[in-house]
Amino acid sequence: MKNFCYVNGEIKSTSEGVIGISDLALQRGYGVFDFARTHNGKLFHFEDHIERLHRSATALHLKLPISAREIREVANELIEASELTTPSVRLVLTGGSSLDSPMLARPNFIIIAEELPTYPREIYSKGAKIITVKFQRELPQVKSLNYLNAVRLEPLKREKNAFDILYHSHNGITECPRNNFFVFIGDTLVTPSEYILQGITRKLILQLAANHFSIEERMIRFEELQAVDEAFVTSTSKFVVPISKINDREIGSGTVGVRTKAIMQLFEEYSNGYIF
Ligand SMILES: Cc1ncc(COP(=O)(O)O)c(C=O)c1O
Repeated sequence: MKNFCYVNGEIKSTSEGVIGISDLALQRGYGVFDFARTHNGKLFHFEDHIERLHRSATALHLKLPISAREIREVANELIEASELTTPSVRLVLTGGSSLDSPMLARPNFIIIAEELPTYPREIYSKGAKIITVKFQRELPQVKSLNYLNAVRLEPLKREKNAFDILYHSHNGITECPRNNFFVFIGDTLVTPSEYILQGITRKLILQLAANHFSIEERMIRFEELQAVDEAFVTSTSKFVVPISKINDREIGSGTVGVRTKAIMQLFEEYSNGYIF
């Protein structure tokens, strides 16, 4: 199986793609990334991912070395050359080489074609469990390379037999380490709008749901979780995952709620009909 990546202008086999040990990404955790997928053989909302990467980079004073058009061309070239069933594309921009000082240097830009992860069918048909953890991501609007807490909490997630973690803080309920969070309170779809990463799937869900439900983008207080009727999380790799349990409390009837099913259906129809 041969897969390909791009490192600063050169296309290489993924196993041969390297950057230096003095990179600020390695030494100080400084850099940004984005992760896009294909759906039915086509890159899905790729421009949105490039735009978000650009916003993340700007927030960290980094500059993308090639244009959006070139990024798309490289991504398609890597996908075509690689032997992947459902390709996805990881775009990584690092702080650059700067061993002993926290000064920014010339960024390294990497594009990797990789297999889209798959998830158990049951989470979509029966719903998944999430557990709450008190934490607020630093610079939440930025998709930075810093997933320190997400990685640190993996053992806890496994121990509690949970599919994901839900962050909360003085800012209320925010998001999961790699997913946005939604609830239904009656027929109203509620999702946090601040102190989160503005997910691309989140944006699409809000657009699709607008014709069917009333929508509130607002802070969700931790205590409100007690009274929600349905919940789900969204991301590029997972699309819409219904939540049946938060900590030890079942949500609604403890299975996939009817409104969540409607959202899943809307998203499936939209993604299957997506034409770039
Ligand atoms: C912190 C965080 N929130 C939310 C999301 C979901 O965003 P998207 O739908 O763009 O994948 C992600 C995944 O990229 C994430 O890392």
